[in-house]
Amino acid sequence: MAKGPPIKYNIHFNPDNVDILAEPGDNLMETAIAAGVHINASCGGAGVCGTCKVFINKGEVESTRTKWVTDREYNKGIRQACQCRISSDLVVDILPESRMEKAVLSREKKGIATEATIPLVTGWRFNPPVKKYFIGLPKPTLEDNTGDLTRLLRGLKQQYRLDSISVDFELLPKLAQALRDGDWQVTVTTLLDSTSGIKIINVEPGDTRAKHYSLAFDIGTTAVRGQLLDLNRGKLLAQSIDYNKQISYGEDVISRIVQSQKAGGLKKLQRAVVTTINGMIKEMLGEAKAEVGDISYMVIAANSVMVHLLLGLDPKYLRLSPYVPTLNATPLAKANHLGIELGRHVYLYALPLVASYVGGDIVAGILGTGIYQRKAVSLYIDIGTNGEMVIGNSDWMVTASCSAGPTFEGGGIKHGMIAAPGAIEGSEINPLDLEPEVTTINDEEPKGICGSGLINTVAALLKAGIITQNGRFNTTLSTKRLRKGDDGYEYVLAWASETQIGKDIVITAVDIDNLIRSKAAMYAGCQTLVKSVGATCSDMERVVIAGTFGCNIDIENAITIGLLPDLPRNRFIFIGNGSLLGARLTSFSEDLLRDGQRIAGMMTNIELSENVDFMDNYMAALFLPHTHAEVFPSVRIGKGRGD
Ligand code: FES
Repeated sequence: MAKGPPIKYNIHFNPDNVDILAEPGDNLMETAIAAGVHINASCGGAGVCGTCKVFINKGEVESTRTKWVTDREYNKGIRQACQCRISSDLVVDILPESRMEKAVLSREKKGIATEATIPLVTGWRFNPPVKKYFIGLPKPTLEDNTGDLTRLLRGLKQQYRLDSISVDFELLPKLAQALRDGDWQVTVTTLLDSTSGIKIINVEPGDTRAKHYSLAFDIGTTAVRGQLLDLNRGKLLAQSIDYNKQISYGEDVISRIVQSQKAGGLKKLQRAVVTTINGMIKEMLGEAKAEVGDISYMVIAANSVMVHLLLGLDPKYLRLSPYVPTLNATPLAKANHLGIELGRHVYLYALPLVASYVGGDIVAGILGTGIYQRKAVSLYIDIGTNGEMVIGNSDWMVTASCSAGPTFEGGGIKHGMIAAPGAIEGSEINPLDLEPEVTTINDEEPKGICGSGLINTVAALLKAGIITQNGRFNTTLSTKRLRKGDDGYEYVLAWASETQIGKDIVITAVDIDNLIRSKAAMYAGCQTLVKSVGATCSDMERVVIAGTFGCNIDIENAITIGLLPDLPRNRFIFIGNGSLLGARLTSFSEDLLRDGQRIAGMMTNIELSENVDFMDNYMAALFLPHTHAEVFPSVRIGKGRGD
């Protein structure tokens, strides 16, 4: 009997309004990824985080049930996307808490320092590593029929004193035509390659100097930020931000490494980030009304895992002792060889890596803030799932990193979510009636709690005496907000009738424990690093807080819970995205390109995971704010009503 065509089911995703065909037994999460539809997936599809819930509006799936779906949810048709196999046509509604909205990525906390007000790197010349030269050449004759390339090199030497330059082989096939199309008047683009000197990367007919652009990208584990830059004027033409599409394969770098080890995993992850980058380039070109051919260069700053994945390098050894990256200084790579939709001549430069978990993003931040130029000692902290820190000055730099867990991104928290509309970000608690007053991002009805909201909530609970300094609930208090839940005691921040998810939003004893562990890791990391150079936190002239999450934390509350050291508040500087700042400046200046390489070479990394001091400091920091109260003299803790 003739075999019929394979069965295909139509899968429709709401609210994205996207359709895709799938085969029986296909995984619903993977089908969503293939359709370009995002569903949160903190654990990368392992089934253990419960962040990927969807409502099966129509049709049938076979699913494995886990504890993350309650009886009520299951009976309503809610399933974990990663645990579903498709067995019919489907209409799938992605639940509000399983979605991410792009708009929130660009939110900025009011009142933080801006690039105009913070001290930055000084003394550099605007001198981009990529340059354009317009040149007119004598036409060949029977008397002078020297080859095209020799003619071009001779002209560059005579008119611009450019000598000893190499030529990118890939431009040769188009050289002859470009010279003739331009009637021997062409624009030559050169690039400074710090290992081999100046290289000709492009020849275009006519004078194209007016359109001379580059791209700077910060490739974060969660978000990717990009800028289109004018290399003639040192100006920002357009910018874009998007979630790193790799997020569908897990939220943190470890789950990405794990994913990369599966069959075809590395390729999928590489394609995911490249798709993100390509979408952003298109968006920026549209905004600036520019053409892709106007772009001649691309600089990226990213953590070591992101650099490996973008370049298609196996990141396996980054997480195995002795934690070695494939490379520190990254050779220039052709952007289009990686799948980035740019001209064939465009090279990508990645800021150098220091260690497995101290990458080019940190080098870029140190470069942009000019810490490496000053005599005074500064501490640079990037707070996140992976916390990175640097201490140093113009003579030396020591770095370290620690795993703080996903808490600061809202991961591992009962009602945790990333900083998206509806996330509780501010909490005050009235010490008299113990009633909370919460504020949410975009003033929407609460949907969950983001990392900064968690810090503020724990600080408020502590100040109101609802939790004690060891993070335990004071169960002698009488308030209907404090009750026993599935995970032990919990405090209700918003009643079901007030929320978008139709459930009470609570903070549980387990959530508080997780936050204490995360903040203890960050604080202990800084303390160990500072002590390793014979200093104390109070010796720091400045504490530079980098990263979008860092910018959105409340400094008082961060000190109250013992996340940041108790120093005079004017020593703290928030720089926002130091990584993108450094990538942009590298695009503008050969001096800074070299400085970035010098900074990476100056840095000595200490491994905290095998450091005895770190473990001792960590244990001492598992308290609010700290076991040794004397190191947090300005923190006053409420005693609560006790009734
Ligand atoms: S439970 Fe589905 S992605 Fe984690």
